Amino acid sequence: MILIDGKKIAADIRSELKEKIDELKKQGKKVPGLVTILVGNNPASEIYVSSKGKACEEIGMITKSEQHPDNISEKGLLDLVESYNENPDYHGILVQLPLPKHIDEDKVIETISPKKDVDGFHPISIGKLVIGKDTFASCTPAGIQELLIRYRIETEGKHVVVLGRSNIVGKPIANIMLQKKKFANSVVTICHSAAKDVSYYTKQADILIAAIGKANFVKEDMVKDGVVVIDVGINRIEDKSKLKGYKVCGDVDFKNVSKKASYITPVPGGVGPMTIAMLLKNTYKAYLMYE
Ligand code: GUN
Repeated sequence: MILIDGKKIAADIRSELKEKIDELKKQGKKVPGLVTILVGNNPASEIYVSSKGKACEEIGMITKSEQHPDNISEKGLLDLVESYNENPDYHGILVQLPLPKHIDEDKVIETISPKKDVDGFHPISIGKLVIGKDTFASCTPAGIQELLIRYRIETEGKHVVVLGRSNIVGKPIANIMLQKKKFANSVVTICHSAAKDVSYYTKQADILIAAIGKANFVKEDMVKDGVVVIDVGINRIEDKSKLKGYKVCGDVDFKNVSKKASYITPVPGGVGPMTIAMLLKNTYKAYLMYE
């Protein structure tokens, strides 16, 4: 069994990007910029956004973090996004979700210029992904494919079973793996909460991608020998032995499923660190495309 080290791969990606940015600076060129916009003070969102900003700074990207009170009007937020659409210093715009109820998230996402849509959430980005055009793929699914690439895991003609149909992970990763391209070209099944017998599907998986947000849901008897397991879940379960009173675990019962797997991602340290690395990569891509 090979443990997929997302922390290391993410660090490799960050240092590759840093080298590219150092080179731009050496040549006296402009560097890529990312603006993050946070509405309100949700502690989890604050942590996410501050990690994204720090990651940018560490590799020498320009970054700015806008934080606005949760009574900002929808129009105020849309105007702010539009101002960054026009701002040549920022190649990527990230509006942290979720947004307060009085703001229509879809409207905000659709206001971000597709040229700066480094989250890959705009319907144009999603549509391009579905028809196999070059675009920004959302960061977690892009990170999953990057792990498959860097571990040289064969995907062509393999049966990829995705658990979960979210717009952020399930649907985009299914579309990525479906593309007629290297490190994709898989046969894809999306399995979701209406499935009558989930293990009927999971047992057929050569590559199983779990993104349902249910702690330890995938058990040893649900997978076949040699399966590649990608665990996207980040769940908190009570653990009194920990100072915090909880521990973080994935959607896969790692201890037992890892006995049958050929490759498996741990939680934490698997897919998680890839999300920010791919955000940086998307921002660099936006810079290259439009600078
Ligand atoms: N909220 C949770 N994950 C994400 C993400 O990847 N991007 C944005 N914009 N908001 C999020």
